[in-house]
Amino acid sequence: MASLLQISQLFSLLFLLTLSPSLSSTCTSPKLISSYQTCTQLSSLSSSLHFTYNRLNKSLSIAFTATPPSPSGWVAWGINPTSTGMAGTQAILGYRNSDGTMSVKTLNISSYSDLVEGKLSFDVSDKRAVFNSGDGSITIFATVQNPGDGKINHVWQVGPSVSKGFPDKHDFKPENLASKGSLDLNGSGQSGSSSSDTSSSNDATKKRNIHGILNAISWGLLFPIGAIIARYLRTFESADPVWFYVHVSCQISGYAIGVAGWATGLQLGSKSVGIVYTSHRYIGIALFALATLQIFALFLRPKKEHKLRFYWNIYHHSVGYAILTLGIINVFKGLNILDPEKKWKSTYVSILIVLGAIAVLLELFTWIVVWRRRSSRSTKPYA
Ligand SMILES: *[C@@H]1O[C@H](CO)[C@@H](O)[C@H](O)[C@H]1NC(C)=O
Ligand SMILES: *[C@@H]1O[C@H](CO)[C@@H](O)[C@H](O)[C@H]1NC(C)=O
Ligand SMILES: *[C@@H]1O[C@H](CO)[C@@H](O)[C@H](O)[C@H]1NC(C)=O
Repeated sequence: MASLLQISQLFSLLFLLTLSPSLSSTCTSPKLISSYQTCTQLSSLSSSLHFTYNRLNKSLSIAFTATPPSPSGWVAWGINPTSTGMAGTQAILGYRNSDGTMSVKTLNISSYSDLVEGKLSFDVSDKRAVFNSGDGSITIFATVQNPGDGKINHVWQVGPSVSKGFPDKHDFKPENLASKGSLDLNGSGQSGSSSSDTSSSNDATKKRNIHGILNAISWGLLFPIGAIIARYLRTFESADPVWFYVHVSCQISGYAIGVAGWATGLQLGSKSVGIVYTSHRYIGIALFALATLQIFALFLRPKKEHKLRFYWNIYHHSVGYAILTLGIINVFKGLNILDPEKKWKSTYVSILIVLGAIAVLLELFTWIVVWRRRSSRSTKPYA
């Protein structure tokens, strides 16, 4: 029986090892984009750029995704034909209006104070912006004609608000100042201007992934396995004290990992100003409270014969099932926010299906065992 725990730990380890490298290297982007040749995770502001450059007609299609610091903020991407910074940039700006519609504009930025809406030094067509309600990000789509040859300078930015159709000043944090790079239209690829900033945006992604992995393992995997062990293994008299220890160690390790995941979640929440995943956060807090209650249940457990044991069972089981349900719901909510490649969600769904199938089989088996015991008892002559 103890090997079950080892198996589950091995499983989680494998899950962790296979999940982390590929998750952290993906180019985070909303689901709606798939048809572009190249996706690059930009070196700052957690932004990404999908693009396809057609050399024959010199047409560059882009989908730029970034998250404004507040819901009424703006995002912008542009090409600077003459220099590397913001001054001189031919920019495309996207923001969400208070009525929920989206606006896209082209801005000729000759200096910080001189922004002119209108024609750019190249033609821009098919421009539109989309709000991604999952994570509060905005994607700007556009096609640029004659963006330049070979390596072009591009810049991107996000800002907190829009006044009378013009973007208000953005922050001047290191991330905002490092948001420039070059885009190689000959090959495919992008190089950020500052390698130190590449790591800071990767760091945030890494943290989100670690948070996701810890919580998927604890709430999404260890707790359900522990519950299955408790419910079904104790039917077998031969498994008697063992199931209890396996159950307790499963839930305690789940709790420890869950608390670590919960802490990373709170930290992520406090850092992402302007983006609040309300329900994910509240469910997370409720889970932590309920799981702590379950740890108390372990210490407050009356003896089997005690008359309060009946009420304790109700309390322990209902809190347990609540954790199970909320935990799985929150793993899915988290997956939607993190938006990793499809296969991770399907992997988790498959794991749940396997666990569900095991539970159904064990349920049937338990009924058969209980029924046999009863019928063998009832055929015994009572003296
Ligand atoms: C350039 O060529 C591609 C592929 O043939 C086509 O999809 C795209 O619409 C063209 N762009 C323009 C601006 O003609
Ligand atoms: C952009 O603005 C600058 C300065 O006002 C001007 O010299 C330049 O011609 C403008 N570019 C376009 C494409 O209008
Ligand atoms: C890009 O490719 C074209 C044609 O192959 C070449 O003429 C040009 O020099 C290249 N530019 C860069 C920056 O590599």
